[in-house]
Amino acid sequence: MKILITGSSGLLGLNLALELAPDHTVVGADRNPLTSQLPFEAVGVDLLDPGVVAALLEDVQPDAVIHCAAMADVDACESEPQAARRMNAWLPGEIAAQCARYGIQLVHISTDAVFDGQSGGYTEEDPPNPLSEYARTKLDGEEAVFSAMPEAVVTRINIFGWSATANRSLAEFFYYNLAAGKPLKGFTDVIFCPLLVNHLAAVFALILEKKLSGLYHLVSPVGLSKYQFGVRIAELFGFDPTGIEPVKVADFGLKAARSLRLTLDTSKLSQALGRPLPDVFDGLERFYQLHQQGHQEKLKAMLG
Ligand SMILES: NC(=O)c1ccc[n+]([C@@H]2O[C@H](COP(=O)([O-])OP(=O)(O)OC[C@H]3O[C@@H](n4cnc5c(N)ncnc54)[C@H](OP(=O)(O)O)[C@@H]3O)[C@@H](O)[C@H]2O)c1
Repeated sequence: MKILITGSSGLLGLNLALELAPDHTVVGADRNPLTSQLPFEAVGVDLLDPGVVAALLEDVQPDAVIHCAAMADVDACESEPQAARRMNAWLPGEIAAQCARYGIQLVHISTDAVFDGQSGGYTEEDPPNPLSEYARTKLDGEEAVFSAMPEAVVTRINIFGWSATANRSLAEFFYYNLAAGKPLKGFTDVIFCPLLVNHLAAVFALILEKKLSGLYHLVSPVGLSKYQFGVRIAELFGFDPTGIEPVKVADFGLKAARSLRLTLDTSKLSQALGRPLPDVFDGLERFYQLHQQGHQEKLKAMLG
């Protein structure tokens, strides 16, 4: 299968491209494509430029698109709402319209943050209530995708992993600060269900193989607090967990509001795939193994 992955220099897109490249023909697209030692073709495009999406699809002729490119910095979206809207809401609709026109399968990436986190355990039927500009624009992106291409797949995810720039995930934040012996804080009242980006590749491959369509929750079936997440990283890597101070998010003064209890019901997707989803604890073990195998050094080298 030929798969076009947008955002192929980012946390999710790069790791997906690397995981899928051995079994598929992968083409990456990013405005700042990585230049060195890439085992897949990467195209440099600003996806917001007029006519670029149609031209890219005509040129690459993929069987499927996994649309990972986004404005994913929650606080930047709060400061620049119009840019966030164009990237997170308009562009997904344009990609869906062009995929529908050319008969290309589409998996669009959304976020667990469409929920306000008051109750947790959300199913795909539960009404979203986004608290931030990022989450509002991502929810509008979901609607734009389905309105242009009802047969598309939209997955609501939460992720962690190693990135080329070493600063794209909470797991990297904990790892690098713990390694440097810096004091850290971890939220005890924010519960989330992240999956390792590398684990998502097999799930997306199966979604495409089974030709699913519709909205799916794709997160770890079990959750933990961000503080517990940091402590587990410290334990795995042999750092002192007492270097992480347990705090409440309200004490922190973040620019954009955060949802507190982002546990999602994943049974719709696991039933459709006929297998359980990986979980955050398996993901953390593999995050450690990837470190031992020099994965983040390999990613950094791709910056050229
Ligand atoms: N990270 C998380 O914890 C998280 C949680 C839930 C959902 N998600 C969703 O998962 C998806 C992937 O997120 P991520 O963490 O991998 O994001 P990321 O690391 O920021 O990667 C996004 C990539 O898209 C590129 N991009 C941005 N604007 C572009 C444009 N106009 N044209 C071409 N490329 C462009 C970025 O390039 P630049 O680096 O040049 O900006 C970056 O390489 C997003 O849809 C995000 O909303 C992420």
